[in-house]
Amino acid sequence: MNFGVDYYPEHWPEDRWSKDAKLMEEAKFDTVRLAEFAWSKIEGTEGEIDFTWLDRAIETLANRNLDIVLGTPTAAPPPWLTEKHPEVLAVNEDKEVVKPGHRRHYCVNSKVYRDYTKAIVSEMAEKYGEDERVIGWQTDNELGHPVCYCDDCRTKFHAWLRDKYEDIDELNNRWGTTFWSHEYTEWSQIPLPNDNPRKGPNPSLHLDYKRFFSQSTVGYNKFQVDILQDETENQWVCHNFMPHFPNFDHFEMAQDLDLATWDHYPTEIRESYKEVSAGHDLTYGVKDKPFWVMEEQCSYLTRDDLTPAPRPGETRMWTYQSIAHGADGIIYFRWRPCRFGDEQFHGGVLQHDGSRESPGYQEVKSVGNELAEVGTEIDGTVVEADVGIYYSFEQNWSMDTYRFHSPIDYEDEIASYYNALFAANVNVKFVSRNSDLNGLDLLIVPVLPMVDEFLQDKFESFVKEGGKLVGTFRTGIKDFDNHVTDKTFPGRLSELFGISIREFTPVKDKPEVTLSGLQDEGKSYTAKDWVDCIDPGEAEPLAKYDQGWPGDRGYAGVTRNNHDDGAAYYVGLSGEADLYRDLVSYLLKEAGIEPILTGDENLEVRKRTEPETGKELVFVVNHSSSQKSVQLPGKLTDVLTEKEKSGTTTLEPFGVLILRQK
Ligand code: GAL
Ligand code: ZN
Repeated sequence: MNFGVDYYPEHWPEDRWSKDAKLMEEAKFDTVRLAEFAWSKIEGTEGEIDFTWLDRAIETLANRNLDIVLGTPTAAPPPWLTEKHPEVLAVNEDKEVVKPGHRRHYCVNSKVYRDYTKAIVSEMAEKYGEDERVIGWQTDNELGHPVCYCDDCRTKFHAWLRDKYEDIDELNNRWGTTFWSHEYTEWSQIPLPNDNPRKGPNPSLHLDYKRFFSQSTVGYNKFQVDILQDETENQWVCHNFMPHFPNFDHFEMAQDLDLATWDHYPTEIRESYKEVSAGHDLTYGVKDKPFWVMEEQCSYLTRDDLTPAPRPGETRMWTYQSIAHGADGIIYFRWRPCRFGDEQFHGGVLQHDGSRESPGYQEVKSVGNELAEVGTEIDGTVVEADVGIYYSFEQNWSMDTYRFHSPIDYEDEIASYYNALFAANVNVKFVSRNSDLNGLDLLIVPVLPMVDEFLQDKFESFVKEGGKLVGTFRTGIKDFDNHVTDKTFPGRLSELFGISIREFTPVKDKPEVTLSGLQDEGKSYTAKDWVDCIDPGEAEPLAKYDQGWPGDRGYAGVTRNNHDDGAAYYVGLSGEADLYRDLVSYLLKEAGIEPILTGDENLEVRKRTEPETGKELVFVVNHSSSQKSVQLPGKLTDVLTEKEKSGTTTLEPFGVLILRQK
């Protein structure tokens, strides 16, 4: 385990640094991230590099046994750069230049910006690449926005298209440009998706721009990774993701990194901590490996307004929640609130006064003391899961390119299944196109519009090998050019599911459609957003619509198609939470998956496993400000207290148990 804090020595008088380092050591911190916005401090004017202050900061911290993670400062280009080269500034969707004065105002495709990136990253890597006090690097900071539409992007997009299609007629064909007379005779005629003020671009163009911009972002990160890997020794490279930023494929970027990390700010979404858990699981999934939380919330946040301060014990609970999901590093954001700048009231471990009396400091210090005891117990454990959710940035873009699919929201549909699995107390793994599906018994694939031969084979093999696969409405309706299939829906997956979709309808207000028959004959569920009318063919109808015209016509809403030990389930509708809860409990039973433990609502239960020995650590996390209880099967040891627990066990508000199972 690594345990530490994000620190900005450049914001504080130097004679304070040694006190900070001492307090960090006393809190049992061992790691500090530095410098990810410090470009103007390192290079005050072009070419004048000054590392002396950073040397002194690193020295001060290292004297207290703190390891350093260095951020490359490219998320915050300094004024001398943007004044000299305004062409590096991004252009937003409304065609306005993104002005300096904040951060993230540059374009990842700017050739000039890449030259400056190369210079500053190389300077840092040459200076610290063999410094044993530096254990790793973070590229930039939270990549993924703004999506840019500048002239550099336009030129590069045209080159990217040329590379992909080679021949303009091939592009015309694959984009369907005969529609509304869009046939291009020159690459230079191809617009960007925001050129048309009516915002209805060709769906193939739109999707290609999303792919292009994702690859540009992934490419910009790789550009930095390559420099760092060339110039450093025994130092890893990571990036701090925001998993819900949709503009690049995180699975792809992760291939270029040694470590995935993310920034965990639960109060932004306090009402739905399940979504916060999904962020952990997605960050685990992108490399299928333990990750770090590079910014762990420990105080109030500056968002549109200040968010509420964490309640006593809540920061500790978030810390263990992160660890439960596979975090091997916890770095709190930030050490001390800054007295100036945009985030002058963003909280930290300390308060503005820098005093050790800060309750936040006292709380993380007690976590530091606990982790000093139990960290070794957690080291080497990983997250194994029997249930997977297929998550694809590209499929989300496809849905997004076609606004007539509203009211379906890809993320919401994923969340509906995720939340039901969360409540069922099972580990969940996010997988994508290139993930290994071995080890999963149940794979839920919500809303998969585009299917090609590769995905068809992948899912067919999964079922053939005994897996239970769940697909939903809007699956198999398109190819990867974003064209609608000419086969009966669900297109390439019709045989796997054994069904035909005869009709479909968005469900806005009317007609009201209900479904019944799932497990319990008495229960009825209201369809929300979407209804696929399933002709079950060779599949078995598990539930039928019983109101509205889909009911009158006798269509099925949920089906199962058995393939020896495997089965393919199709869910034709979206609904309210009760539908997902009952579906998931049915599917878990079908796949023979048991909950890790059972307990009250608002408790989160997860498990980490040591692969060699099979040792299991069960984490129980109370997300609420009231007592909750959990049922334990037999006697277990709580490694935080070394006390034995059994039967019905109570957790205090925001309490945590870590139970040793084997
Ligand atoms: C993060 C960002 C940090 C800081 C923080 C505030 O998204 O990486 O630099 O701005 O938000 O909550
Ligand atoms: Zn651009």
